[in-house]
Amino acid sequence: MAFEEKIKELLDKRSLAKQGGGEKRIEKQHEQGKLTARERIALLLDEGSFEEFDMFVTHRCVNFDMQKQSFLGDGVVTGYGTIDGRLVYVFAQDFTVFGGSLSETMALKICKVMDQAMKVGAPVIGLNDSGGARIQEGCNALAGYSEIFERNILASGVVPQISAIFGPCAGGSVYSPALTDFILMSKENSYMFLTGPKVVKTVTGEDVTVEKLGGAMVHATKSGVAHFVGETEEDTIQKIRTLVSYIPSNNFEEAPFVATEDPIDRLEDSLNSIIPENPNMAYDVKDVITGIVDDGNFFEVHEKFAQNLVVGFARMGGMSVGIVANQPKVMAGVLDCNAARKGARFVRFCDAFNIPLVTLVDVPGFLPGTGQEYNGVIVHGAKMLYAFGEATVPKVTVTLRKSYGGSHIVMSCKQLRGDMNYAWPSSEIAVMGAAGAAGILYAKEAKTAKTDATAAKEAGDEAKAKQIMEEYKAFIKEKEDEYNELFCTPYNAAKYGYIDDVIEPRNTRFRIIRALEQTRTKKLTNPAKKHGNIPL
Ligand code: HXC
Repeated sequence: MAFEEKIKELLDKRSLAKQGGGEKRIEKQHEQGKLTARERIALLLDEGSFEEFDMFVTHRCVNFDMQKQSFLGDGVVTGYGTIDGRLVYVFAQDFTVFGGSLSETMALKICKVMDQAMKVGAPVIGLNDSGGARIQEGCNALAGYSEIFERNILASGVVPQISAIFGPCAGGSVYSPALTDFILMSKENSYMFLTGPKVVKTVTGEDVTVEKLGGAMVHATKSGVAHFVGETEEDTIQKIRTLVSYIPSNNFEEAPFVATEDPIDRLEDSLNSIIPENPNMAYDVKDVITGIVDDGNFFEVHEKFAQNLVVGFARMGGMSVGIVANQPKVMAGVLDCNAARKGARFVRFCDAFNIPLVTLVDVPGFLPGTGQEYNGVIVHGAKMLYAFGEATVPKVTVTLRKSYGGSHIVMSCKQLRGDMNYAWPSSEIAVMGAAGAAGILYAKEAKTAKTDATAAKEAGDEAKAKQIMEEYKAFIKEKEDEYNELFCTPYNAAKYGYIDDVIEPRNTRFRIIRALEQTRTKKLTNPAKKHGNIPL
């Protein structure tokens, strides 16, 4: 074959590979409102930066006459490119080839990019759209999944791993995304479940649609499986790009510094009046967050899940930070099972990837009740405690208002190796609120007052009964006031050095940035061990 013909052969093969499962199937994909694997990659990466691997790989299966059906690339497009000039590795399952189902060779292709990403220290981004294990391949497909899962596990905490779901993701194939750091789902067309509606019906008798069982909104609001939901595929892909901008490429690097025109010493006057006079009134902690971060940009993670805790990324003085904040607007900011799970996972990601933690505290405690206890709030709360306590990244905590009991400790208190713990003058740092405390400390007096009042009533002396109760109420009010004076201020905690300084709210941005600058060279390691045993 002449050299030119060889080149033509190459170009023809490339063009064939780019057609995936063929025009008809691409049309069907488009009709369903879905993009193809290559279109998704083109949107994800900087223009012209994609370099493809393994375009000529084909499957090796001969069961069911599979040798007669073969497509160059075998159902997944893999390679590397850049996002804002930074290297990332990517694989995108091609639904037009055997429904994006996973074959032995597809797994090898995915493993190759994962191995390369680990060698050079760059994120892996998986774009999922697949009918699961390639049925014709039997255990070879299962082995392929297992190879991927093992790599997901070994890469965890070494390079960031991001999964986006654009179509089906069912059966055991959900476990690769679940092992990664972040899952994004596109609102339309994407779903994830272990067992589909037909099996659900057979086993439990329950009638459920695909969307209700595992649609994007279900995972964003109820299960917490999805960290982000995109309105469209384009929006989802843009969210991946934004996410990447906040995180480092690997566990030895820091997140990119992004210079800002927002002065580090900007005073945010609105914060001096954001805390309502009435301690039972709510405010939106997101107003505090956007008030203190660079240019008001906050990239929220798990926005729709466990909204009583807000977590997400922002920059302060150009540095990436992970923000964890109680949300008084939702369930008074109380911590519960889901909020603790959400917080723990986020804190551990930030710690694994050298992102400092900024914690904003306004928490009345843990949610009481059988619902919480039966669901293991003890263990979930311990997760968050463990996550903050083991984190060695710079930790800056600002108490805005309430910080009571166990939840005070969990929310990155000083003794969990907090670097700088500040408090606003509105802070209340105590074992519990004044009413609860007085009720427990003076239970005996309450009982006596009630008994005496009842006796007086029975003796027909209504006036005396009333007087006894009034005297008791005045006594309790006095004790509550005493308690409030002692604990419902930041100064008792500051007296012991548990709070490093009481700061003016409008100056919070500056004080946090100064603390972050001060702790940039922080070196802290945990005792050598194989691994800790976080209460899972
Ligand atoms: C081989 C598959 C396939 C699969 C789909 N296809 N899934 N081929 N293995 N798992 C093929 C179809 O034959 C069809 O080929 C093409 O992909 C498109 O599929 P359609 O059914 O036409 O598409 P659609 O109507 O959109 O339905 C998509 C679907 C459905 C819901 C995903 O295809 C489906 O239910 N597939 C099977 C899902 C499944 O049970 N997978 C195994 C899960 S168990 P043509 O040639 O017509 O284009 C599992 C275990 C993993 O994954 C364990 C890991 C530990």
